[in-house]
Amino acid sequence: MERKINLEKANEIMKKHGNNPEKLIEVLSELNSEYGYLPKKVLKQVSKFFDLPLSRIYGTSSFYTMLVTEPLGENIIRFCENAPCHVVGAPEVLESLEKELGIKIGETTKDKKFTILTTSCIGICGVGPVMIINNDVYGNLKPEDIPRILANYK
Ligand code: FES
Repeated sequence: MERKINLEKANEIMKKHGNNPEKLIEVLSELNSEYGYLPKKVLKQVSKFFDLPLSRIYGTSSFYTMLVTEPLGENIIRFCENAPCHVVGAPEVLESLEKELGIKIGETTKDKKFTILTTSCIGICGVGPVMIINNDVYGNLKPEDIPRILANYK
């Protein structure tokens, strides 16, 4: 169930950093950690505090992959998109993942079971393509491995 949004905590975090627009990313990251994502109510509050249009706050929040504007799924898949994984077949594996779950990167399945996010290189490029589901690392991925792996989390 979605957590009740306590705006007092958001105000506290914003005040601590101050409303210099240069602090916007820092504030959004801390709010993202506090709430697990960036709820709309919180983003509106950020927009008021920084005196910046809500569209700009949304734009910034969706540009950075570590920031999310929707509650995440029960299982978080972090897919490595960096070049060494890319050249050994990551795009085909990702396609299989997206097809199997019916969502794209940055989205959450309707049943709230899975969210796909990207990650930068996690340093095991030798066994690419690589993804992490929660704390489990999977390497040497092939498109046909995806249904079997996902079945463990359903
Ligand atoms: S590029 Fe994917 S783990 Fe390094």
